[in-house]
Amino acid sequence: MRSHALRVEPPSVAVPSCCAPLPGALVEPTALSDERCAAPTLSLVSAPPQWVAPGMTEKMAAFLAQEPETPCLVVDLDVIEDNYRRLRGALPAAEVYYAVKANPALPLLARLVGLGSSFDTASLPEIDMCLDVGADPARLSFGNTIKKARDIAAAYERGVRLFAFDAEEELEKIARHAPGSQVFCRLFVDNKGAQWPLSRKFGCSATMARDLLRKADRLGLDAHGVSFHVGSQQNDPGQWDVALAQVADLFTALAADGVSLGMVNLGGGLPTPYGAPVMDVNAYGTRVMAAVERLFGGQTPRLIVEPGRYMGGNAGILETEVVLVSRKDDADDRRWVYIDAGRFNGLAETEGEAIRYPIVTSRDGDPEGPVILAGPTCDSVDILYDKSGCRLPLSLKAGDRLRLLSAGAYTTTYASVGFNGFAPIRAHYL
Ligand SMILES: Cc1ncc(COP(=O)(O)O)c(C=O)c1O
Repeated sequence: MRSHALRVEPPSVAVPSCCAPLPGALVEPTALSDERCAAPTLSLVSAPPQWVAPGMTEKMAAFLAQEPETPCLVVDLDVIEDNYRRLRGALPAAEVYYAVKANPALPLLARLVGLGSSFDTASLPEIDMCLDVGADPARLSFGNTIKKARDIAAAYERGVRLFAFDAEEELEKIARHAPGSQVFCRLFVDNKGAQWPLSRKFGCSATMARDLLRKADRLGLDAHGVSFHVGSQQNDPGQWDVALAQVADLFTALAADGVSLGMVNLGGGLPTPYGAPVMDVNAYGTRVMAAVERLFGGQTPRLIVEPGRYMGGNAGILETEVVLVSRKDDADDRRWVYIDAGRFNGLAETEGEAIRYPIVTSRDGDPEGPVILAGPTCDSVDILYDKSGCRLPLSLKAGDRLRLLSAGAYTTTYASVGFNGFAPIRAHYL
């Protein structure tokens, strides 16, 4: 889990007399970045002695050197842009629909609008956030399979024409409140190999999907295609092959029924680096396109990809402060390290220790020992890492800072509004 800190030159920025807001950052919600269309020049920090994290950009380092109030997330929008451009290069045949749920910050959405991205939304508020930053409603997908009828109607009124479903009742709601729209059916697929599986909650069997897409056609909707999600942080690109084979069979079966599908939604699942090496996005692109070409012959359908974690993850560093270091008994070899970020103010994905953020500290290089890492609330569930072998410097004490890397996705909004009085994590967009 640990990453070793590099020591670098202190960045040459003025240290402000107070912590917030700090110069150089957009604190969300706020005005949009003026730089949103500029091509990013990613310069990674590379020299000692300021402690930094692998993959940390100079912008991030300069900002964090001002010691912003913790806990906070710092996101470099140039990394988002770089991720977007690399995905477009790896999968040029696919339209990118950014999964807004991963990080719906307005500066981030605005940067993606400037780049020409489309958006996968889970709710009406997410639709409105996209529209607020100038997204075209025709480039939005209402991708949640669980929607209230009035939200479908409101989305339709705003110009949204692409809707997901996986059940008959949902299809009927869409036919009634978004007549004539394009619909796609979500297939249930295996999430083997995913670090954050999306379980049985979404999708239906291929047999049911065939019936429902036929019904969509009868209801006057445009039976546009099929979607799937191979599970988040999917480390095996081969899982797309498996899912695509099911989709191709469905295309063939429906063609025989007189329903011609045109779109395959490849979902999310592309990984972000959490310390363990992940395959480059090009490897995923090559594998997916080989499967599409093999399974669909010369007739490549419209392709959509919905990256969330991939787009935001490595763009963000979460800075926290140590509140307490203790042992439950003098004989204990493991210390408890309590920090000011926990399960309820941004680190929900430590559930089951599924997502293991690499950690660097200001005392890296000192001798280290095993710890249980926990959050600040009075709830005993608020433990981040107990079983996954977390080790931190023995010299660590209250007031020291810790950095959790690749924390730009599924953190800021994955927080309670104020459990135990702790606010969601403050975020800065650079
Ligand atoms: C419909 C849909 N698309 C895309 C995503 C993004 O997935 P990931 O963050 O793994 O890229 C999700 C995540 O839950 C989702 O529900």
